[in-house]
Amino acid sequence: MATRSVRAEEIERELESLLTRETFPPPEEFRRRALIRDDTPWREAQADPVAWWERQARALLDWSEPWQRALDDSNPPFYRWFVGGRLNACENALDRHVRAGRGDRVAFYWRGEEGEERQVTYAQLLHDAERLATVLRERGIGPGDVVGIYLPMIPEVVVAMLACSRIGAPHNVVFGGFSVEALRDRLHFSEAKALICVDGARRKGKTVAVKAAVDRILDELPSLGTVICVRHTGEGAPMRRGRDIWWHEALAGAGPTPPEPLDAEHPLFVLYTSGSTAKPKGVLHTTGGYLTGVAWTQRHVFDLHDDDVYWCTADVGWVTGHSYIVYGPLVCGATSVMYEGAPDYPDKDIWWEICERYGVTIFYTAPTAIRTCIKWGVEYPLRHDLSSLRLLGSVGEPINPKAWLWYWRVIGGGRCPIVDTWWQTETGHILISPLPGVTTLKPGSATRPLPGVDAAVVDDAGREVAPGEQGYLVLRRPWPGMLRTLYKDPDRFVETYFSRFGRETYFVGDAARLDEDGYFWVVGRVDDVVNVSGHRLSTAEVESAIVAHPKVAEAAVIGQADERTGQAICAFVTVEAGVEPDERLAEEIRQGVAERIGKLARPARIIWANELPKTRSGKIMRRLLRDIAEGRALGDVTTLRDPEVIAQLETKVRELQ
Ligand code: WT7
Repeated sequence: MATRSVRAEEIERELESLLTRETFPPPEEFRRRALIRDDTPWREAQADPVAWWERQARALLDWSEPWQRALDDSNPPFYRWFVGGRLNACENALDRHVRAGRGDRVAFYWRGEEGEERQVTYAQLLHDAERLATVLRERGIGPGDVVGIYLPMIPEVVVAMLACSRIGAPHNVVFGGFSVEALRDRLHFSEAKALICVDGARRKGKTVAVKAAVDRILDELPSLGTVICVRHTGEGAPMRRGRDIWWHEALAGAGPTPPEPLDAEHPLFVLYTSGSTAKPKGVLHTTGGYLTGVAWTQRHVFDLHDDDVYWCTADVGWVTGHSYIVYGPLVCGATSVMYEGAPDYPDKDIWWEICERYGVTIFYTAPTAIRTCIKWGVEYPLRHDLSSLRLLGSVGEPINPKAWLWYWRVIGGGRCPIVDTWWQTETGHILISPLPGVTTLKPGSATRPLPGVDAAVVDDAGREVAPGEQGYLVLRRPWPGMLRTLYKDPDRFVETYFSRFGRETYFVGDAARLDEDGYFWVVGRVDDVVNVSGHRLSTAEVESAIVAHPKVAEAAVIGQADERTGQAICAFVTVEAGVEPDERLAEEIRQGVAERIGKLARPARIIWANELPKTRSGKIMRRLLRDIAEGRALGDVTTLRDPEVIAQLETKVRELQ
C-alpha cells in the first residue's frame, strides 16, 4: 500500500482506544456559547407543554393573526394547533428577513456538480418566489391546489416550494431519484394540477433528459394542466404549447404577488413515503405547527448562531430536505450550503473540500454516508482543514458506535458534539435528540425526547417495558409538527398510526429500548419498511414491481443487514413454469424495479426459490426469509406449511455466499 500518512495511522490507533469510551459530555468550549446550557426548557415544557409550544410559536414566527386556541384535542387523532391563527410560510422564510434589512444575507452557497458556484441571497429568493407565485396564480393555481415538484438540488427547488406556500398551494416534492412512473403515481394520488421540473439533470459528469422522460407520463395525468420547466443542463426539451412554459421566460414577464395569510392548519405540503403496502402514503403537513416545531429544533438542536454556515447533505425530495434544508434554515434566517452533486465526484473528498471552502460550522448527514467515508479511508477528510466545524448531526437510521466515533474523531476533530436526531416524515421535525450544550452523549443513542415530547417504549399491551427491554416506540402527546392525516385517506391515517394503542397514542413503527438513564436506543422498523442508505422503501412496493415481470410468479422482499447501506434489498423470487432463471432475467427484474420505482430500490440480491415459505393460511413468512438471508438459526417453524422449502432455500443462500 502507498505510504499512509503518520496522521492517518495515529488517528486509527486513537479510534481503537476510543471504542471503550461510553459517554461524551458537551465540550466546555461548545457549552460556553450554546443557546441552551441547562435543563430549563425541559422543566418549563413539562409544567405546561401546550403553553410552552405557544411561547415558541410566538417567538419564532410572524403571525398576521393570533390564534384563539393553542391546541384543539377534542377529536383525536385529528389534532389542530394554533386554531384561528394566520400566517404564511414563505413570508416567514423570506419577506420578514428582507423587511428587517437582511436581504443581502446569503441564504445558500450553491455548489454545482462541475464546481460552479452561486450565492443566493434572501432578497433574490424572495424576488423569484414572488414572481413564480404570480405565474402559478395566472395558471389558475390557488389555495389547496397541489403542485408537483421534480427538481434536482438547485436553488430553484427552494423558490418553487416557497412560491407554492406563498399562495397556499401545497407542494408535492418527488425525489429526483424516483423514476417518472413513481412520479406519475404520486402526482396522480395527490391530484396535482401543475408540475415544476427541469430540462435535464446531471450525475457524475453525465446528463439525463428529464423533461422528455416526464412527457411520457403526462398524458396519463389529465388534471395536470401546467408544466413549468427550469433550464438547467441546457439540453433543450420538448414543449407543448398551452401546457408547458419555461421558468425563465415566465418569471421575466411576471410581477410580484404578496404572501397570502393562511390558516395555521392550511396544508403546506404532501410528501409520499413508503408504508406496509405497495401504495405510498401521502403524509400531510400543515403550516403553523409544522413551522413552529421545525424552527425550534433548527435553532436549538443545531444551536444555530448568526455566524454559522450550515450544511445538511440530504436531498429536498425527502422530509429532511423539507424541514432542514428549506423551512428550518430559512425561517431561522440561516446561511446554508447546497450541493448538487454526488459525494465522490470529482473525487471522494468533495464534501470536505466544500466544508473547508465555505467554512461550514454545522454539518448534518446520514450514518450510511459516514460508513461509506470510513470505507474510503481517513485520507480524504485529512486533505482538508475542517477546523471550522463545531457541531455534527446524524439522521435516518441508528448510527453504530464505530461510525459515531469515527465521525466524532475524524470529522469533528474530537471537539464537536454529535446530535443523533430521531424523527420521521410523519413527525415533521426532530423529536428525540440531544441538545448539544446540555446532553451527555452516548454513541448510538438518540438520547432523550426534546422538551414538550412524550415518548415511551411499550409492550404489546401498551405497558411500559423495563429498562433494557425491547418494545415499541410510541408518542403519547400531540406535538405541533405531527402529520394531520394521510392525503385524502383519513381512515388509513387512523388505522396506521392510531389503532394499535388507541386514538391518543401514536404508533411509530420502530422498535426501541430505554436504558437506566432514560436514553432511547432505536433498533429499527417493526413493519415491512426497509431503510436502504437512509431511504425508506416498502417491501410490498418492490415486490409488486418484481412480479410485474411476466416471467415472475411470486416475490418476497426483505431488508437484509448490510454493513454500508444499513439494510439492502434482498428478493426471493419464484419463476413461472418452464422458465429457467438466469443472470439475464435477474438484470431484467432489476431494470423493471428501476423503471417502476427508481434505481435506489433495485434488489442487491436476487435468490431464485422453488417455492416461498408460507403459513398454512398462505402468508409469506418474511421473518424466516430474513433469518435465512442473514444466516441465523431459524426460530419457530411449526406454522410452516411445507418445511422442505426452508432446507432448499438455506442451501441456495449458502451457495451464494
Ligand atoms: C425512520 C423514518 C427523519 C428523516 C429521515 C428518515 C429511522 C430516522 C433515526 C435515528 C434511529 C432513525 C426510524 C424512523 N430513523 N432517524 N436518529 N436513529 N433511527 O425519515 O424516511 O420517514 O424514516 O427512519 O426507523 O422510523 P423517514
